[in-house]
Amino acid sequence: MSQPVYKVVVVGMGKRGMHHATTFHANPRFEVVGICDIDTARLQSAAAQLGNPVTSTDAAELLAKTKPDLFCLTTMPNIRYSMIKLAVEAGVKLVAYEKPMALSLREARQIMELVRQAGVKTVVSHQHRYGAHYQKVKEIIASGAIGRVHTVYGHATGWMLHMMTHLIDYMRWYNDNAEAEWVMAQASGRGKLTDNHPSPDYIAGVIHFANGVRGIVECGAGAPDVPEVDYWWRKARIGAQGTEGFAEVLTGGGWRAVTKNGSMQGPGTMDYNLDMPPYIEDMARWLDDDSAVHPCNGEDAYKGFEIMMAMVRSVVERGQVALPLPDGPPEIEELAKVLPDKPVLLSMPENRKEYPA
Ligand SMILES: NC(=O)c1ccc[n+]([C@@H]2O[C@H](COP(=O)([O-])OP(=O)(O)OC[C@H]3O[C@@H](n4cnc5c(N)ncnc54)[C@H](O)[C@@H]3O)[C@@H](O)[C@H]2O)c1
Repeated sequence: MSQPVYKVVVVGMGKRGMHHATTFHANPRFEVVGICDIDTARLQSAAAQLGNPVTSTDAAELLAKTKPDLFCLTTMPNIRYSMIKLAVEAGVKLVAYEKPMALSLREARQIMELVRQAGVKTVVSHQHRYGAHYQKVKEIIASGAIGRVHTVYGHATGWMLHMMTHLIDYMRWYNDNAEAEWVMAQASGRGKLTDNHPSPDYIAGVIHFANGVRGIVECGAGAPDVPEVDYWWRKARIGAQGTEGFAEVLTGGGWRAVTKNGSMQGPGTMDYNLDMPPYIEDMARWLDDDSAVHPCNGEDAYKGFEIMMAMVRSVVERGQVALPLPDGPPEIEELAKVLPDKPVLLSMPENRKEYPA
């Protein structure tokens, strides 16, 4: 029996839009029927690589013309709810969009309410978890080889709105997606508040999970170096410690573990060419079968996003913040009102390129 082919529209034909669109185009389960960007030169060049689908600078017009099953949104984080609303109103079955899922908890919640009510599936691009080295660490932890997990941790030199939901998503995965009960955090440096991923220069905090596991997470200029990794954006380390050892992944530098069976390590690096095809394939599976929930589903992404926003509220309000969070004003705008104007203290010389004094 032939399998259905799902029609796809991609909006935002930049770096990530092209990763998505070319991967959909290469997969026989999908047909890229339309692409959208406000930059017409970029749009024409993308169309030539994608079998010349319908092009438009207006997402609403494109949705009306092409009636896709799947809407893929890969713009900067300032455009999320408005576009997803257009897609839901146009009757799509699945929205795949880039992290961070929103700029505030209020917006993330609006998105989730919209898609839940309409019965639309969502997937958020935390696709690093498809890396063989990420999977190996999960396998070791799940096997019990490090004993009872008591701590999960993650740090990255990239700043909060770029990297933190990646870290928390994988920490939650390594901790069996346990619920978070409270967080406490501190932040420093105003340099990135006006970035297109507005963030404090550095944020660090702890997460208390309901299963007793402690999460420790750090993002930005004060996060430690990962000297085993050369490429600045891949200087991230995520792992778990247990009663009998630890297992951790370096985003750009393989995995390593000490377990009750001895110490071990292996290769692997974050690679879009390897991670995107299975990430996209799992969308077809979920569209085929409601029970084949995508590993990067929006409900889990929302939990990670809520933890990150709780950390920002902890900086603003001081002290521990309980989850689930009540509604509140946009967290990063509130942070901008209180963050002192003191230069961030750097943890590695390379940060000077990204964090001018
Ligand atoms: N998951 C990952 O591994 C990963 C890696 C890098 C970036 N990202 C995320 O991907 C997102 C996009 O990043 P990027 O580097 O591809 O950005 P980019 O600037 O290369 O691309 C964004 C595109 O969106 C277009 N655009 C802007 N407004 C539009 C509108 N109203 N309608 C249609 N198109 C519009 C821009 O013209 C641009 O071509 C960000 O949220 C970023 O955090 C994720």
